Amino acid sequence: MRIDILSVVPELLRSPFEASILKRAQDAKCVEIHPHNIRDYSTNKYKQVDDYPYGGGAGMVLMIEPIAKCIETLQAERNYDAIVYMTPDGQQLNQKVANRCSLFKNMIVLCGHYKGVDQRVRDLFVTEEISIGDYVLSGGELAAAVFCDAIIRLIPGVLGNETSALTDSFQDNLLAPPIYTRPVDYRGNKVPDILTSGNTPKVEQWREEQAVERTKKLRPDLL
Ligand code: ADE
Repeated sequence: MRIDILSVVPELLRSPFEASILKRAQDAKCVEIHPHNIRDYSTNKYKQVDDYPYGGGAGMVLMIEPIAKCIETLQAERNYDAIVYMTPDGQQLNQKVANRCSLFKNMIVLCGHYKGVDQRVRDLFVTEEISIGDYVLSGGELAAAVFCDAIIRLIPGVLGNETSALTDSFQDNLLAPPIYTRPVDYRGNKVPDILTSGNTPKVEQWREEQAVERTKKLRPDLL
């Protein structure tokens, strides 16, 4: 998968992709991340990318020309399965959306900033609008990092243990069961006996029961 991320502050996108699973996914050539600075596509001599909103009001709006130029430059090189705009008024990201998007081969992710982008960018270019939750961030960059993390870990070969993503919370509409590691006894708080019994079918059955119990208690809306 190739992901092109468009932003006016691409520095914000650096660290999430420079460590751990997202770095290993790139090193293993499972995914290519290409950040682009929208300012590099401004034709204005001041490299302007934003302007006041027509009709007045607070905040600046990202202009269409530099964004269009960046998108069109990329589209001249390859076809894109989706042009995603990160915005709090988009479809809320969940595991189902992540699963679907993890199948894309080429994707553009556009990050808003200030008040957002000129509506015509959304009308003319954007194919999906995604929110990571009902709260407003200063820009779409952190949301884009969250979105990319959720989909990259689903790409085959990214996680060492191939079954690992399949046993994540939400993958079967259930929360994950409790997990433990050493020591077996921490100040009298013991790991459930079943997990140290060596009886794999019983462990599996226990995990399933725990997942259902947890979901009933914490997220009954998922059942
Ligand atoms: N940009 C600002 N807030 C956001 C959110 N909650 N989700 C996605 N993009 C955003």
